[in-house]
Amino acid sequence: MEIREGLPDDLGRLIDFMELVDHEFVPPLSLRPGGIYDRVSGTLAKVDSNFLIGESNGRVVGAVGYRKNWNGIEEVMGEAYISFIAVHPGYRGQNIARLLDRALAKKLWSDWMTHVNVTTWSTNPGAYRMYQQLGYVVSKTLEDHRGPGVDTIYFRKSFK
Ligand SMILES: CC(C)(COP(=O)(O)OP(=O)(O)OC[C@H]1O[C@@H](n2cnc3c(N)ncnc32)[C@H](O)[C@@H]1OP(=O)(O)O)[C@@H](O)C(=O)NCCC(=O)NCCS
Repeated sequence: MEIREGLPDDLGRLIDFMELVDHEFVPPLSLRPGGIYDRVSGTLAKVDSNFLIGESNGRVVGAVGYRKNWNGIEEVMGEAYISFIAVHPGYRGQNIARLLDRALAKKLWSDWMTHVNVTTWSTNPGAYRMYQQLGYVVSKTLEDHRGPGVDTIYFRKSFK
């Protein structure tokens, strides 16, 4: 697998990939403001944001979207935010998310970021476990934020 920065030309490829995993997100990405198109086009190959794309034999097997100088709530210099991370269902359990997270940390650190933030929801135990295994710690919980019994959980990791 190769990991590379997204290019404007990846728009369609990333939209297809997000559509593939859309139903696994709560709420689905397609039902959030702007939907999948805005989520990809607003992040791809921008000054402060982009995707790292994991590719194997020309196929997108995983992707992570990030935004610099943003903590998920407000602008903060030196903080970054993961706006999307997923691995193709046929390629899970092969450390691809770990490799994407490692490549992202390297990229963000070289761009003077000191922390990375990400959110998940309480009914996604796989993601919760993954962030713990990747060295993130819970920084905040918003109870019932995504519906009754569905909390939003903020995770944060320091590169220092
Ligand atoms: C969560 C997701 C990105 C994990 O991708 P992956 O490539 O299978 O993860 P990795 O193989 O790199 O695993 C990294 C670590 O997380 C743990 N992990 C990953 N998925 C897990 C799961 N479902 N349950 C428990 N632990 C899990 C692994 O055990 C591993 O830790 P270890 O190396 O110490 O054992 C993938 O399942 C996915 O795309 N899910 C749907 C989208 C989603 O939920 N994204 C996150 C939204 S916040």
